[in-house]
Amino acid sequence: MSLIHRPRRLRRTESIRAMVRETRLSPDNLVYPLFVCEGEGVRRKIESMPDCFNLSIDELVTEVEAARQDGLRSIILFGLPDEKDGTGSQAYAEDGIVQLAIRAVKRAVKDVTVIADNCLCEYTDHGHCGVLDGDEVLNDPTLDLLARTAVSQAEAGADIIAPSNMMDGFVEAIREALDQSGFEHVPIMSYAVKYASGFYGPFREAAQSAPQFGDRRGYQMDPANAREALKEAALDLEEGADILMVKPALAYLDIIRALHERFDLPIAAYQVSGEYAMIKAASRLGWVDEERVAMETLIAIKRAGADIILSYYARDIARRLA
Ligand code: PBG
Repeated sequence: MSLIHRPRRLRRTESIRAMVRETRLSPDNLVYPLFVCEGEGVRRKIESMPDCFNLSIDELVTEVEAARQDGLRSIILFGLPDEKDGTGSQAYAEDGIVQLAIRAVKRAVKDVTVIADNCLCEYTDHGHCGVLDGDEVLNDPTLDLLARTAVSQAEAGADIIAPSNMMDGFVEAIREALDQSGFEHVPIMSYAVKYASGFYGPFREAAQSAPQFGDRRGYQMDPANAREALKEAALDLEEGADILMVKPALAYLDIIRALHERFDLPIAAYQVSGEYAMIKAASRLGWVDEERVAMETLIAIKRAGADIILSYYARDIARRLA
């Protein structure tokens, strides 16, 4: 039989496959999320996220040094304060846990890009991402606190601010505050398209940030909506975002692709805690090959159009790519 087209010709050897491979991961594009807590010598396991830890600042520095050795260049930090209150005041305290952590990491590790997650949910006693009036999460009063948080993070030395709380106008508020404080050079990586997702479950254990009542559907997006994602992204671009993020990643590859096609900004995607936990759990049961599946999901996220990937697997993958 004489077939003209035989795609298998290009799959015959590993070197031919490598020659025609379209998508490649690089440690340069990976961001490693880390949780910093108070205390010293603390390396507390997170039950629902095997191999991830709550780290005190000294342990965090050790972890970042090791990740840097593995070839990673960027981390994103989440702070876990001992004291929480109604307005999340530890989020913008000059000596807040995340501010101290940023200073320590920047002092100890050279050329690491430190991204500061900017939100209130880990810092409020009610676990919501903004200030409340009764059961209502208030938009505009929350913006002032996010802006203060951003400035305090930049003062501590954060290289990029990543607002994640989905209030309307958060990019504009943060951009203005940063510029007024002399941080016009600090980029904003906006969680532009953040869905109200069940995949954040393990994170809420890791960051002790589960809402004490209700849920986040009043501010995070409905998983059923795609056109609204374009609207959210367009608004953030107008307000001055430098990087647009989609979150979660694997269940929203169509959204990543749509943003990649529509916007001329770097696109980031966050492979969130639940995506990580599912791979861990299935591999522990012996049902999937962890390394292979982790790699495959990251390739899929990149292939969909993500330039930057935030993943708890970042360090493993960087080591594997070395
Ligand atoms: C909010 C925030 C969340 C995550 C990142 N930033 C949690 C939420 O919205 O409930 C989730 C990340 C993950 O699940 O890995 N500060």
